[in-house]
Amino acid sequence: MSSPEEAAYRLLTEYTNGFMVSQVLFAACELGVFDLLSEAPEPLGSAAVAAHLGTCPRGTQLLLDTCVSLKLLQVQTRGGEAVYRNTELSSTYLVRASPKCQGNMVLYLARTTYLCWGHLAQAVRDGKNQYRKAFGVPSDDLFTAIYRSEGERVLFMRGLQDVWSVSGGPVLEAFDLSAFRLICDVGGDFFTDPLPEADLYILARVLHDWSDERCSHLLTRIQRACRPGGGVLVIESLLDADGRGPLTTQLYSLNMLVQTEGRERTPAQYAALLAPAGFRAVQCRATGGLYDAILARR
Ligand SMILES: C[S@@+](CC[C@H](N)C(=O)[O-])C[C@H]1O[C@@H](n2cnc3c(N)ncnc32)[C@H](O)[C@@H]1O
Repeated sequence: MSSPEEAAYRLLTEYTNGFMVSQVLFAACELGVFDLLSEAPEPLGSAAVAAHLGTCPRGTQLLLDTCVSLKLLQVQTRGGEAVYRNTELSSTYLVRASPKCQGNMVLYLARTTYLCWGHLAQAVRDGKNQYRKAFGVPSDDLFTAIYRSEGERVLFMRGLQDVWSVSGGPVLEAFDLSAFRLICDVGGDFFTDPLPEADLYILARVLHDWSDERCSHLLTRIQRACRPGGGVLVIESLLDADGRGPLTTQLYSLNMLVQTEGRERTPAQYAALLAPAGFRAVQCRATGGLYDAILARR
């Protein structure tokens, strides 16, 4: 039995070391550990992994054994040698050939999001996204920052698609959408381009990028383009009514602080944006997954 003080110290250590766990995962993905082990005809020893990847044997062994502790790899002994293979988790979510692979999102988090989070305290001070500090981009404008190179744009879009491959189904099943004949998935330069007429507009992972003012502007534009009887389906991660959970959504909200101009919101905050823009009968459905659905009628 540990004392409350010891338990508190353990928790503190877990928090201070949390970034190391992320980096183990990021490095293993970046190096191609999971793909190599999935393609190998049999489990591989760390020397063989190092030889295939062209990495240092000591570093490789440390990385592989840490992956075992994190349940990203399994180890067994064959002929006196430790050999490694993927776990169910890594086979499903970290191997490129898997339809549910999250590899692009992991790389995006490693190469972009992580660097912005290095300036979280500054973001709390100045309330701005941190692309200037993290990448030296010349402007805080989101489009310039998020899509600052073709490679970055493609990785981000592929990463979003990875998450969609797991979380997309539950949000689209949250409501019966069969009455909406023409559906518009809103993207591109929606603040200025004319919006096509449709029965339902999907705003997936869009409103959380923007301030209340910009969201109101966009929702008003959508309301004007929307056919009578139509609606809008907002797909976002919902905060609890008091804004103090779930932790994942709170972290996403801080992520919006370091990477965008927006925040995650509570159901009441979405309703407060939708109603003045002319949408009524706001319904929120928590899916139990990463993303939730909000349907409102014109
Ligand atoms: C986070 S992505 C979401 C894409 C898609 N709906 C999904 O869920 O995968 C944000 C969308 O906002 C659009 N967008 C419009 N104006 C933007 C701007 N100034 N900065 C960043 N994204 C912008 C992008 O083209 C992109 O389609």
